[in-house]
Amino acid sequence: MSDDMKRLAAERAVADVTSGMRLGIGTGSTAEHFVRALGVRVRGGLDVIGVPTSERTRALAQEEGIPLTTLEETPALDLTVDGADEIDNALRLIKGGGGAHLREKIVAAASTRMIVIADGSKCVQTLGKFPLPIEVVPFGLGATRNALEKLFVSLGLGGELTMRGGEQHPFVTDGGHYILDAHLTAIPDAETLARALVAVPGVVEHGLFIGLADKAYVAGTDGVFEMTA
Ligand code: 5RP
Repeated sequence: MSDDMKRLAAERAVADVTSGMRLGIGTGSTAEHFVRALGVRVRGGLDVIGVPTSERTRALAQEEGIPLTTLEETPALDLTVDGADEIDNALRLIKGGGGAHLREKIVAAASTRMIVIADGSKCVQTLGKFPLPIEVVPFGLGATRNALEKLFVSLGLGGELTMRGGEQHPFVTDGGHYILDAHLTAIPDAETLARALVAVPGVVEHGLFIGLADKAYVAGTDGVFEMTA
């Protein structure tokens, strides 16, 4: 059911793609529906070029025959389509459940527009129930973790940090980093937290996407509805 909704939202976004576009292509199960539907249109003659946000998306896009480029060759994109783990009413997002938020944020920031695709379970009043992914450099991990814990206390945010994949076998991102997931329960002031996180040495990127999404296609039992910023 949820997968059907993800597919419906993805198909709606594919309908917004026109020939000549330079696309950012997201990561995750919803974005995979987008890649497959985009592949059908490319094989039907749609002329686009895309920058994948992960090695996983790159492999699928190549299988689908979608022409790919890089931000070195094509530094400005027209549209990024990507999933999300949480979406609030102002189109602030939590992303990174699939561990790709560093490349996803770089690609979204290089795009004129970003469309989010999701099923209705991703919509929230307040961000933070989904653990916030924080990508960190392996060097100095203990010190970075301490600094993050102090930061959360100073902002009145409770919650623990867990290592993605476990302490013994940490998940390694496409960029060679680790991910600490912050179980904060609620993030009442996402802007303040976002600014503070990037100031912590050792933090590469976090999963708060603020001011990046222009529109979301959200699929529920009554069909796909559109949210705008
Ligand atoms: C990957 C992401 C994904 O977009 C997010 O986790 C949503 O995934 P899905 O579409 O599988 O629910 O941010 O880093």
